[in-house]
Amino acid sequence: MKASYEGLDLAGRRVLVREDLNVPLQDGVIGDDGRIRAALPTLRDLVRRRARVIVVSHLGRPRGRPQPGLSLRPVATRLGELMGRTVAFAEDCVGETAAAAAGRLDEGEVLLLENVRFHPGEEANDREFARRLASLAQVFVNDAFAASHRAHASVVGVAGFLPAYAGRLMLAELEALHRALDAPRRPLVAVVGGAKVSTKAGVLRHLLPRVDALLVGGAMANTFFKARGLEVGASLVEDEALEVARQVEAEGGDRLVLPLDAVCARRMRAGEETRVQEVGGVEPGWMMLDVGPRTVAAFARRLQGAGTVVWNGPVGVFEIPEFSAGTKALGEAIAASGAYSLLGGGDTAAAVRLLGLEGRFSHVSTGGGATLEYLEGKELPGLAVLREAT
Ligand code: 3PG
Repeated sequence: MKASYEGLDLAGRRVLVREDLNVPLQDGVIGDDGRIRAALPTLRDLVRRRARVIVVSHLGRPRGRPQPGLSLRPVATRLGELMGRTVAFAEDCVGETAAAAAGRLDEGEVLLLENVRFHPGEEANDREFARRLASLAQVFVNDAFAASHRAHASVVGVAGFLPAYAGRLMLAELEALHRALDAPRRPLVAVVGGAKVSTKAGVLRHLLPRVDALLVGGAMANTFFKARGLEVGASLVEDEALEVARQVEAEGGDRLVLPLDAVCARRMRAGEETRVQEVGGVEPGWMMLDVGPRTVAAFARRLQGAGTVVWNGPVGVFEIPEFSAGTKALGEAIAASGAYSLLGGGDTAAAVRLLGLEGRFSHVSTGGGATLEYLEGKELPGLAVLREAT
């Protein structure tokens, strides 16, 4: 386990906290503040300990240049509302502006620095840039599990200059992943959806030897069907991944469970006529856009009695009501199974929110790409630099 800052006396000390406050933002309006809320336990705790709290985060991908539309200022306001206290904002994350703002912090006060990706040194993990960031504080806390797959200055570089500890959210994320993958209550069932085999092949390969069953849905299943020589109509298929699909299927044996039927339409849009068609019998011009009722029933049977479920990726085009029933039914089956359930990776949390399934799972990871990389068995660079608990 990674070391927590909890044993330290942080009263009066400057603590640089890396959070992932990368929230959807349109014209200054925050779409979903889930990641800001997820940061609260650590930030509130540091305030309680009377630390001087300096929060650093990225927002979007400004490619090393300031972009007004990607300023973290609206996030500072929202964070202040959620914390019930003023959160100061510094218009730059390094240099005199940042140092002056950090210098004004009293014990138990919070400062949010401007988007760290406004500087090219962040993504380059530039040593001098990391040193400048680190010079603002005496202790580094990484609470940004969702950004820890990035070897960037505010995630990795600063740990070369400051003692580096894990925050509460970070520890909760790691604990959930550990519980689901390293010490699972069996049977362990994984559900993997999404569009592409190529982006999920690493996850499938890492999970297959560890799980009792791996249920595959979403457009990536189409590539498995085509690799078997089945008729897929006009369904989305990744022709360059056919060989990978064949290999994964051979490795998976009967642990790999594919859909039996699909909700099909001629176009991927709302209002289209839909038909349930059997896998292998998709009519020309029709495409598979959601799992069908026989599949939902078969998946639900596998989930019943599961001890642990890991779910990554929707099994249909959940954004369009006509093709959302499979993902919703699957979410309900997971919630009803009573298993320890861990959800993560990009679209899964969005699907859960849109389909009204929030609050029904044991842990919903804040990580998108980071969770995927973890599920692939990769070592995340932001974790590697944190102190180990003794
Ligand atoms: C995410 O949204 O997954 C993280 O904030 C990382 O963002 P990035 O993919 O732009 O590095």
